[in-house]
Amino acid sequence: MVVMLIMGFKMRYLDLKRKICSVRMLAIQGIAEAGSGHPGASFSAAELMGVLYFRKMNHSPEKPDWNERDYFINSKGHSAPGFYATLAIAGYFPPSEMKTLRKLGSRLQGHPVRYTPYEIHQSVPGTEFSGGSEGIGLSVSIGIALANRLDGKKNRVYTLIGDGESNEGQIWEAAMAAAKFKLHNLVAILDRNRIQQDGFTEDIMPLDPTRDKWSAFNWNVIEIAGHNVEQIIDALNKASEAKDRPTIIIAKTVKGNGIKHMTNNPQWHGKAPPREHTPILLEELRSECLIAPSIIAGQQENYEEKIRSAERGGADIIHLDIMDGRFVPNSTFNSDIIKQLRHITTLPFDAHLMIENPLAVIQDYIDARCDIVTVHAETCSESEFGQITDRLLSNGISPGIALNPSTELPNWLFPHLRDVDVVLIMSVNPGFAGQKFIPEVLSKMRLINQKLREHGFLGYIEADGGIDATILQEVYEAGARIFVAGNAVYGSGDIHGAIIQLRYKVNVALERKLLEQANAIGIRRDWLKTRKHI
Ligand code: DX5
Ligand code: ZN
Repeated sequence: MVVMLIMGFKMRYLDLKRKICSVRMLAIQGIAEAGSGHPGASFSAAELMGVLYFRKMNHSPEKPDWNERDYFINSKGHSAPGFYATLAIAGYFPPSEMKTLRKLGSRLQGHPVRYTPYEIHQSVPGTEFSGGSEGIGLSVSIGIALANRLDGKKNRVYTLIGDGESNEGQIWEAAMAAAKFKLHNLVAILDRNRIQQDGFTEDIMPLDPTRDKWSAFNWNVIEIAGHNVEQIIDALNKASEAKDRPTIIIAKTVKGNGIKHMTNNPQWHGKAPPREHTPILLEELRSECLIAPSIIAGQQENYEEKIRSAERGGADIIHLDIMDGRFVPNSTFNSDIIKQLRHITTLPFDAHLMIENPLAVIQDYIDARCDIVTVHAETCSESEFGQITDRLLSNGISPGIALNPSTELPNWLFPHLRDVDVVLIMSVNPGFAGQKFIPEVLSKMRLINQKLREHGFLGYIEADGGIDATILQEVYEAGARIFVAGNAVYGSGDIHGAIIQLRYKVNVALERKLLEQANAIGIRRDWLKTRKHI
C-alpha cells in the first residue's frame, strides 16, 4: 500500500487557488444542506488552512497519526465546515461526506472532535484537537510543541486562533508561556477578521494594537493580507526561520470572504443560506477573477516601480510579456530581467512567452521562479508542448498555452488538458501594448471556453490584448477569468483607480450572471433581497 506523505511540496499557484475555491464550495454546500453552521469563519480562514494543508505542512491523509507529521490545532472550532472541507479536499475523507454535516450520527458535527482510531465513526481523521469552547487551543499547542522539543522531534505546530477568541484570558496566559519556553516550533495564526459572534471586535472588546500586544509578549510577529496565498506562504517560511521564540502571523482577513452578501457581515457569523441559493453561491465562488497588469505598457521602462504600483493598486498577478523580435515584431526582456524583478513582490509572475522554440529556454523561466508560464501554440509541436508542461509541472509551475487571434484550438491539446492551467486567448495580434481589442475574438473565446469545459478543463481562460473597462463585461461573459491589462492600467495615470474600475466591471458582470441564474430557478425576488446591501 502506497502511503501518501505530503511533505510540503510546491503546489502550483493556480492549483492551490482552485483547491481553496473547492473548499469554500464544499463548506457552503454542507452548511446549506445542514441548515446551520458558520460560513463567516469558514471563509475568512480558507486560504490560511488551505496553504497549510495543500502546500506547507508535512502530513499524511492515509496515516493521520504519522509520527513525523506537523500538527494543526484549530482553536476556533466554529470554523469546522471550512476545516472539514479542507481535510476532505486534502484526502482525509470523501468530500461527499460533507453532506452529512451536523446530521445525527455524522462524525462531522458543529465543532470538531479529536481523531482517535478507536472511534472512527465519531471523530474526524486529521483533527488533533476537540474545538468548540474557545481560548484553549493555544495552550494545547504549547504542550505538543514542548513535548516534540523534549523528544528532539522536528515536527512543527500550527494553531489557528480568532480575534473574538482573543477576548479569552487563557490566550494571553498561553502567549506568556510559549515565549517563556522559547517555542520556535510553534506558529500561531490569528484570523483577524474583526468580527465575532455578535458584532465587530473593536466595539465589543478592542484588540488593537494587536501587533504591539504580541511583540510585548516576546513573540516574533508577522502581519499579512490573509487571503493572499503568496503572502501566507512567505510568512510561514519566515516563521520557520525564527530560532528563539514562537511566531504569530496576524492575518488580515475578511469574514465571509468569497460571497459578497456575507462579506464583513456579522449576520453571517453563524447562519446558513437557504438551500435553494446553493447553485448560485457555487457559481459566485467559481467566478473568482484575477487582474494582471502587463508591465510593458505605458511610457516609462521602470519595471520595478510598475510592479510596486500594481501591487499597491490591488493587482492579483503580474503579466510579463517576453518577446524575441522573431515570433513577434518587437523584443522586450527575458528571464534575466525576471530574475532581477522576482524579489520585489510576492505577487505571482505570469510569464507570456512570445518567442520561437520555447522548449530550448524553458529552464530559464523555471529558474526565474515564474508561477505561470505560457507558450504559444504556434511555436511548438505537441511533443515539445508535452515536454514543456512536464518540466513546469514537476517544478510546481502552472503551464499555459496561448493562441493568436487567427489560431484555433489545436486538436493535439485535448490529451494534455488536465496538465494545463491557463488557455490564453489573444485579442490583439501579439507584439505591442496599447492596441485595439479585436471584437471577433469574443465569439471564438465563447466557443473555446464551451469546448474546453465539455472536455473537463478546470483551468482559467486568460484574455490578453486591448482589454479595458468598456469591453471587460463581454470578455467576462465569454468565459475569461484572468484579465491582462496593459494600457488600461499603465496608460491611465491612476493605476489604483484603473484596477478598481476593472474589478468593478467584473462585479457588475458577475451580478448580472447570478441574477440570471436566480431568475432561471425562480428565486429572483429572494435573491435580490439577499443582495440588496452589496
Ligand atoms: C501583447 C501582449 C499583451 C499586451 C497587453 O502582445 O501580449 O500582454 O502587452 O497590453 P494592452 O492591454 O495595452 O493591450
Ligand atoms: Zn501578454
